[in-house]
Amino acid sequence: AFVVTDNCIKCKYTDCVAVCPVDAFHQGPNFLAINPNVCIDCELCVPECPAEAIFQEDALPADQQPFLKLNEELSEIWPVITEVIPAPEDADNFNGIANKLPQLIV
Ligand code: SF4
Ligand code: F3S
Repeated sequence: AFVVTDNCIKCKYTDCVAVCPVDAFHQGPNFLAINPNVCIDCELCVPECPAEAIFQEDALPADQQPFLKLNEELSEIWPVITEVIPAPEDADNFNGIANKLPQLIV
């Protein structure tokens, strides 16, 4: 499955959800998670993300490993999102900022 990683936090552009053929994305307050049991590895979402936050699980950078379990856990408690919504007003200020995990709102 594909995995949403740190740089999505507080950016949440949601362009990714528009192309997912199986509605695998789930929405929290400032992050999205992919349900690994639904994702069919089509890879369509990867180039859509302006924050380059989506990786195949086997290609996850070492420092992004915690997001594997987080995507699975959060997708179980958050609702599905299928339509693009406006990004946070200050999203661009957080694109590229490292280690935003402490700012994740569950
Ligand atoms: Fe959806 Fe394809 Fe991305 Fe998986 S890889 S989340 S199926 S768009
Ligand atoms: Fe997040 Fe990128 Fe989607 S910032 S909401 S994974 S388009």
